[in-house]
Amino acid sequence: MNITVFGVGYVGLTTGACLANLGHTILCVDVDESKIKILQSGKVPFFEPGLQELVTQNARKGKLRFSTSAEEGVKFGEVIFNCVGTPSNGDGSANLEYVFSVAKIVGEHLNDYKVVVNKSTVPPGTARKTAEIISEHNKNGVSFDVVSNPEFLREGNAIRAFNYPDKIVVGTASEKALPIMRKVYSGRMRTYLPIVETDWETAELIKYANNAFLATKISFINEISNICDRTGADVKIVSMALGLDYRISPRFLNPGVGYGGSCFPKDVKALIKTAHEKGYQARLLEEVDALNERQKKLMVTKIKERFNNDIQGKTFGVLGLSFKPKTNDMREAPSISIISELLAHGAELRVHDPCALEDARKIFNDKITYCSSAEEAALGSSAVILVTEWDEFRGINFSELGKLMKEKIIFDGRNIYEPELLKDEGFEYIGMGRK
Ligand SMILES: NC(=O)c1ccc[n+]([C@@H]2O[C@H](COP(=O)([O-])OP(=O)(O)OC[C@H]3O[C@@H](n4cnc5c(N)ncnc54)[C@H](O)[C@@H]3O)[C@@H](O)[C@H]2O)c1
Repeated sequence: MNITVFGVGYVGLTTGACLANLGHTILCVDVDESKIKILQSGKVPFFEPGLQELVTQNARKGKLRFSTSAEEGVKFGEVIFNCVGTPSNGDGSANLEYVFSVAKIVGEHLNDYKVVVNKSTVPPGTARKTAEIISEHNKNGVSFDVVSNPEFLREGNAIRAFNYPDKIVVGTASEKALPIMRKVYSGRMRTYLPIVETDWETAELIKYANNAFLATKISFINEISNICDRTGADVKIVSMALGLDYRISPRFLNPGVGYGGSCFPKDVKALIKTAHEKGYQARLLEEVDALNERQKKLMVTKIKERFNNDIQGKTFGVLGLSFKPKTNDMREAPSISIISELLAHGAELRVHDPCALEDARKIFNDKITYCSSAEEAALGSSAVILVTEWDEFRGINFSELGKLMKEKIIFDGRNIYEPELLKDEGFEYIGMGRK
């Protein structure tokens, strides 16, 4: 099938490359000329494991092309995926300006029956509004259908998440669009996987409910971790025991410095706002969001307490900057609030991340020192602060690292180290809810 994808961000490019790999012919369109130029030159403008190879292979086969022409995009695809960004507005609501601008362009250039698929995360009512906008600009009355097909991929694991999804949700009232959507996904690896076929609003809400639940699980274990800190219990063992209950499952039960990224913070806020607009106060979600903000500040509180509220002029080594491992994505990364707060208290920071140094430089310019290894970041520091749990930080040789530091203290924001082993190396260990 000929398929057009609007938006070549994490979702759009992964979707385009993976659909090309299933045998479809894909045209990816973006308004960002520089991104399209990079892609046309054969490169991927961000880091996602395996994506570069997939893009190269499929571009070579002529299965994947890139363009800035929206008109060409609308005319090309029998199916048009809308994967543009839906960032947060200042009041927490989702900014739908980009989604609707694609809808308008689709309406203006419709030349044949098309299935327009909203893949971006959007509040209930958006597919309905999309159909209205397309109709409004569709002067020749060409027939079309709108489908809600939210995306559940995880950055750092996006290709696997596409090929082995837990679920595919398709919201539409159209008998004509459904078989087309089944054909789009027919080659996806687990052919026995049922497609959750439902209406627009239910499909749209499934995505928000999914992310809100995972965010709630994280804020829940952070709450338990904070109670552990005050009672002498060890959260690692508490969460392990909780995870043994099959009704709970062990995933997303690791406490830390708060959740970040381009999805959880904005999606929780957007769901709260959507509920509010419909006259309902989503108190549980309000607290999930508020607790996450508190959690991001907790690491700095721990550091200040350890240094008797005087960190002016002290040097700290920060390990990990991206919002999670295996991505360079810094959107809403907890490292941003931790670093900003430490700078505000006069600390000096030496930072290392395997992938996100350039992205961090755009945020902090020359306010911090960028290092090419954990050892370089630790040099002369009063403590090392682990913020993002990249695999390479798990294998650090602490007896060597300690020799480079001024004081042997580690703040483990993700509980990846064993306190006893670090104590044996002469380190003082401060984790999240750990003994
Ligand atoms: N990143 C994730 O892990 C993830 C996972 C699931 C769902 N989502 C959702 O998917 C959507 C996209 O997320 P993302 O992380 O890929 O965003 P992104 O910011 O990385 O990419 C969005 C792209 O859309 C482009 N764009 C904006 N207006 C356009 C237009 N009119 N025509 C063509 N292109 C346009 C931008 O230039 C940008 O390249 C969001 O709604 C997000 O919530 C993201």
